[in-house]
Amino acid sequence: MDLHQESDHPQKLHHLFSLSFPNKKDVAYSFILFISLLITSIVFCNLVTPFYPHLLLPFSFSRTPNASPCDYSYGKWVWDENYPTRKYSEDCPFLDPGFQCRRNGRLDVGYVKWRWQPHGCNLPRFDAKDFLERSRNGRMVFAGDSIGRNQWESLLCMLTHGVSNRSTVYEEHGNPITKHRGFLSIRFQDYNFTIQYYRVPLLVVIDDPPENASRQVRRAIRVDKLHRFSSKWVGADVLVFSAGHWWTQDKTLKMSTLKSWALKNCDPKTSHVFFRSYSPVHFRGGEWNTGGHCDLSNAPETNHLKPEVNELVNNQIIENVVKEMETAKHKVQFLNITYLTAMRKDGHPSRHREPGTPAKAPQDCSHWCLPGVPDTWNELLYAQLLSSGYKAW
Ligand SMILES: *[C@@H]1O[C@H](CO)[C@@H](O)[C@H](O)[C@H]1NC(C)=O
Ligand SMILES: *[C@@H]1O[C@H](CO)[C@@H](O)[C@H](O)[C@H]1NC(C)=O
Ligand SMILES: *[C@@H]1O[C@H](CO)[C@@H](O)[C@H](O)[C@H]1NC(C)=O
Ligand SMILES: *[C@@H]1O[C@H](CO)[C@@H](O)[C@H](O)[C@H]1NC(C)=O
Repeated sequence: MDLHQESDHPQKLHHLFSLSFPNKKDVAYSFILFISLLITSIVFCNLVTPFYPHLLLPFSFSRTPNASPCDYSYGKWVWDENYPTRKYSEDCPFLDPGFQCRRNGRLDVGYVKWRWQPHGCNLPRFDAKDFLERSRNGRMVFAGDSIGRNQWESLLCMLTHGVSNRSTVYEEHGNPITKHRGFLSIRFQDYNFTIQYYRVPLLVVIDDPPENASRQVRRAIRVDKLHRFSSKWVGADVLVFSAGHWWTQDKTLKMSTLKSWALKNCDPKTSHVFFRSYSPVHFRGGEWNTGGHCDLSNAPETNHLKPEVNELVNNQIIENVVKEMETAKHKVQFLNITYLTAMRKDGHPSRHREPGTPAKAPQDCSHWCLPGVPDTWNELLYAQLLSSGYKAW
């Protein structure tokens, strides 16, 4: 997996982990990127003409009253002895060794027994068969960084758990799951359904602002230049972008200049687009490369009012943009997992990293043990798909 690969290349490792330590500027930067991605999705679905981002920045969105049936993002973690029996095990064939924490020596198993209880409503029980049935003849795409992969693997395992013959679920091109490829495609044969993962740490190209741009336009987001993979997302029934780590400290963005993902790429009537929010990290007593650790945490944060969240003051804007698109009949949703995830300082692999990791290697306090916290992200994903009437056929 990423960590292993990147620990062979210290400079890359730095790059990966530098993504995990936002200072204010970076947070602002990530925020701009995030907004740009929201806009990008409009462009994907809507525009025929070339798109000039400075026409859209800065924003002035109005609030619309259209509210979702339940806000799953706010609530608390409750201890539930029965919760693990509903889950897959570490034997799931789609897990990176780095996420198999028990196998890697983690002895406390409480981290799988916490269930997310939203405030004021219940999450629908995750029903793998129903999910697969709804996805028949369909395709689902995860595009993002290694945290996106974390979530992708979680969903694969949650769904495979509902399939009686596991040999009917396999990588389409015979690629091994643990060997890092740019893209992997898992097929659920009985349902003619594939779930793909595209490794795309950054989706868009950042340029200097246009001449005479207003001061709010710190960076121009060239959404007309997208990652080369983007052509492969055309026609997906569900697209999940992980937005949280799409910012860099050094601002060196190595992206290919590629064709624009112009019109007709997603049908607003059938494509469900999700933007997953930032997944917080929990390094204590240092940063990732200066002895920061998270192995002393074996329970979630209890102070539910003050999670350590690097949330932005401008949250409202994101929410409004999503609402704007909802009213424009696009099935675009915000998968807001930041608050619930911030409380789970106990959910990281910490020092229980994959076999072969040097003892002195930094702890992993940014990825998540599986089964674990990303399962809850997928429960939210399922719930939000249900509420928007998801059916791939
Ligand atoms: C599988 O799904 C594709 C669309 O994704 C469809 O074109 C094809 O006919 C389906 N195959 C079967 C056997 O239903
Ligand atoms: C499981 O699926 C594989 C691949 O389709 C098939 O070869 C095998 O016979 C199936 N096993 C059972 C018990 O149905
Ligand atoms: C920017 O502003 C200057 C001075 O007002 C003007 O001469 C120039 O044409 C402007 N450039 C663009 C691209 O609008
Ligand atoms: C995400 O959810 C948390 C908890 O409900 C909330 O405080 C925050 O404002 C939400 N973020 C956005 C961008 O809506």
